Amino acid sequence: MAAAAAVCRSLGLFVVVVLAVSVTGVWSKSFTITNNCGYTVWPGVLSGAGSPALETTGFELPPGASQTLEAPAGWSGRLWGRTLCSTDATTNKFTCATGDCGSGTVACGGGNAAPPATLAEFTLDGSGGMDFYDVSLVDGSNLPLLVAPSSSGAAAAGNCAPTGCLVDLNAACPADLRVVVTSSSAAADVNADDVVACKSACLAFGSPEYCCSGEYASPTTCRPSAYSEFFKNACPRAYSYAYDDATSTFTCAGGDTAAYTVTFCPGTNSVKSSSPSSGAPGDLPLINGTMAFAGGDQQVGAAAAMPPSTTSRTVVLLVAALVMLAGGAMS
Ligand SMILES: *[C@@H]1O[C@H](CO)[C@@H](O)[C@H](O)[C@H]1NC(C)=O
Repeated sequence: MAAAAAVCRSLGLFVVVVLAVSVTGVWSKSFTITNNCGYTVWPGVLSGAGSPALETTGFELPPGASQTLEAPAGWSGRLWGRTLCSTDATTNKFTCATGDCGSGTVACGGGNAAPPATLAEFTLDGSGGMDFYDVSLVDGSNLPLLVAPSSSGAAAAGNCAPTGCLVDLNAACPADLRVVVTSSSAAADVNADDVVACKSACLAFGSPEYCCSGEYASPTTCRPSAYSEFFKNACPRAYSYAYDDATSTFTCAGGDTAAYTVTFCPGTNSVKSSSPSSGAPGDLPLINGTMAFAGGDQQVGAAAAMPPSTTSRTVVLLVAALVMLAGGAMS
């Protein structure tokens, strides 16, 4: 009995210590989320199983705005951007054309992003005390997104580097992967047939070969496809299919990294290329210099304000056509 009481007391003490630490924020890290798009983005946040919800699960972020969220030690979860959101005048339900989380409200409250959506995925203080993070296009993408750790100096070398997809894949999206809006909306500055997101082949066709399921559920049997290579060529550091781990998972020493930035539409000049050294994912370019892409600011809302240059549009279409031709020739 005495032993049991002692266990209870020390458990109680442990709980008090954990509470004190999380209240004082000793172990916490932060995500600073910035919207550099020319249109409003509504970030969504979903905590992984066993991780607590952050202070918000969804909010509105106007162009140019930033918001910082605190995350406790060991947090895992994902962040993404919802676009073209509005509240229905009759039902009062809040929905988004891309990244919708199904909650009917600005807060996602545990709802997941409807694909296609560009995802920033985190596991803080995981195996070996490392933070793991990646940007995933496995289910497709809806807007350019950059994740950058705060670490500098030696800690920022190798795999502890910015990752993301800096280019607007909507403009270049192959025809059979496109998500288009079906009606125009003056409020959202979007026209019918505008491409608002780009599906992955798994999402578009659902076949085991593209989804790495069934007999393709292993790194040796699931190979890149012409479709996944469209994403990988444009965004060499982002996940383009389920087993793209080797070039797409980034890690920072958890103890040396207190903050991450997540930027929507970071622009294509925002990150210097790191000096090649070890064959780590961080040595890959964030943007493929041999491809010319339009920047993310050209999506919908900003389209009226800043018409895309016709030359970059033409190059994008040419590249897309070549990629698809190559894909057709291979299959
Ligand atoms: C850049 O794109 C070209 C053409 O699509 C491709 O052959 C090349 O492998 C890509 N480079 C990287 C680093 O992804």
